[in-house]
Amino acid sequence: MCGIVGYIGYRDATAVVLEGLQRLEYRGYDSAGLAVLDSTGTLQIRREAGRLQRLVRLLEQAPARGTVAIGHTRWATHGPPSRRNAHPHASPDGRLVVVQNGIVENFAELRAWLQARGYTFASDTDTEVIVHLIHYYFHGGGLNGGGLDGGGEALETAVRAALSRLQGPSAVAVLSRDHPDRLLAARLGHAGGVVVGWGEEEMYLASDIPALLGCTRRVQFLENRQMAILTRNGASIRTLEGRPVDRPVVQVNWDPAAAEKGEYPHFMLKEIFEQGQSIAATLAQRLDFGSGLVELPSLHLSPERARRLRKVTIVACGTSYYAGLVGRHLLERLARIPTEVDYASEYRYREPLIGPEEMVLAITQSGETVDTLAALEEARARGAFTAAIVNVVGSQADRMCHGAIHMHAGPEIGVASTKAFTASLVDLVLLGLYLGQARQTLAESEQAALVQDLARLPGLVGEVLEEAQASGRYAELARDYGGFANFLYLGRGLQYPVAREGALKLKEISYIHAEGYPAGEMKHGPIALIDGHMPTVALAPRDGVYEKMVSQIEQVKARGGAVLAVVHHQDRQLAARVDRALPIPQAHPLLTPVLSVIPLQLFAYHVAVGRGLDVDRPRNLAKSVTVE
Ligand code: M6R
Repeated sequence: MCGIVGYIGYRDATAVVLEGLQRLEYRGYDSAGLAVLDSTGTLQIRREAGRLQRLVRLLEQAPARGTVAIGHTRWATHGPPSRRNAHPHASPDGRLVVVQNGIVENFAELRAWLQARGYTFASDTDTEVIVHLIHYYFHGGGLNGGGLDGGGEALETAVRAALSRLQGPSAVAVLSRDHPDRLLAARLGHAGGVVVGWGEEEMYLASDIPALLGCTRRVQFLENRQMAILTRNGASIRTLEGRPVDRPVVQVNWDPAAAEKGEYPHFMLKEIFEQGQSIAATLAQRLDFGSGLVELPSLHLSPERARRLRKVTIVACGTSYYAGLVGRHLLERLARIPTEVDYASEYRYREPLIGPEEMVLAITQSGETVDTLAALEEARARGAFTAAIVNVVGSQADRMCHGAIHMHAGPEIGVASTKAFTASLVDLVLLGLYLGQARQTLAESEQAALVQDLARLPGLVGEVLEEAQASGRYAELARDYGGFANFLYLGRGLQYPVAREGALKLKEISYIHAEGYPAGEMKHGPIALIDGHMPTVALAPRDGVYEKMVSQIEQVKARGGAVLAVVHHQDRQLAARVDRALPIPQAHPLLTPVLSVIPLQLFAYHVAVGRGLDVDRPRNLAKSVTVE
């Protein structure tokens, strides 16, 4: 969840690392720090609690310059956010520094072991045990040891020995004044990405691609238990056992401008407005709008194997899980395959039963969510065909599955996921069509109607966004309703997962309590909550359960609750019955979730802005959840 950046080259390393950290701030933002090797060979460490900007100010007062540096932006696990717990952490002699993303699960035991050998601790973090362990092994047995021979090899050996003592996932970067010509990075388990970036006589390290986009697009990804040794002229990669490995250098095709806010005040708003474009990119080259045929070559699932599939289990977390709930409807309707959806964090611990010819499908924007990766690992070990609907090409989920369907949404930086949700819904429709075509479960007319509306979908998304902009509706709505402390979101069928996604959006960026509920369950309990202090957001497009939704809206109104309803814009009758109507255009019912979620994204965004909150960096959250 934390962000790591490293640089070795000829430029001002502090500036390069700060820029990378700024681009990675979505990974954690409760404190930040960096260490730079200055011209006297001293490791200058600067750390500060709070947002990155505070570190920038500290560096203005106390500059630190050099051409090799590592930096970190933190999401606290062990120890509260403070300067003393901010990374980098240094060895007792100040000659070695470490930044880490992950958790040392056996840190208490290692801490006691090191204390028994004379080490004292200056922070509450688990990370500090790593730097002391490296110091211990580098000095051939601790504080009084003599030090290992063998130049840079000695540092590698010490890092390897230290990492072999750790339990739990960790990604680390190490810098030592004894080896000023190199930077080390390693990955243990599912600790989030470690990306090596290639420049000309300069090399980079980062947790995520967006940190590097301003510098290079040639990258290598470290696998579990691999270590990269970076010099100014390149990188060599070895296993933690010391065996050299050949990792391909791949070209990332993201446009660097895509990772900038541009004219928008927040990434979230930019990403909401990019949805028409990202959906068009998701559809491109996979769907032949003329014949309706879908091609998914990177899925590596032949039509024959698709025909034999008996079950699909979708595993995901957060917003991606809600996309999965929509996916269940899509796959069952279009391909007639029994589909289950599970939280990845639950799936991995319930000893899932996997029979032959089953697909376990992960949905993950980042491709680095620790629980999703673990669920995939579990499924693969039990013999399932594994696939991922994933945005970040080259991420761990992308690499570890038998097949993948990429979202093509471009970098998503806002912590609140928006365009990845709609892109994954479109990928799920494509998968449903592909499987339906292979299994011959699709009536020609149904396929034609769906394909026709898929072609219109980017334009329909544009209509929702244009209407929102022209009417100023959502800022006004936020002004009138942003003061409530609780919200209920209701939907049925395909709109139930959208209700849950809408409630999650409101919770995570505006800190207002919101529950997404299946509307049909209201009378089994939650209706007791309804009064004038609990507005309801109802999803009521004209679909197969429309009448039922209308009755439920009436039941809320009868109890004095205000209703904001997402309705088709032709539905004047319902619009007149509710307190506020949020209009969307008519589309094929299977595509309607792509449109109905947009008003909920905009509402959450404007409520958070109206409350003066930091939309892109909501408290306690981070973009990629790489620790359990
Ligand atoms: O990268 P992933 O799609 O695997 O991430 C899953 C969730 O962590 C993510 O969707 C999270 O719930 C977002 N903050 C929601 O806006």
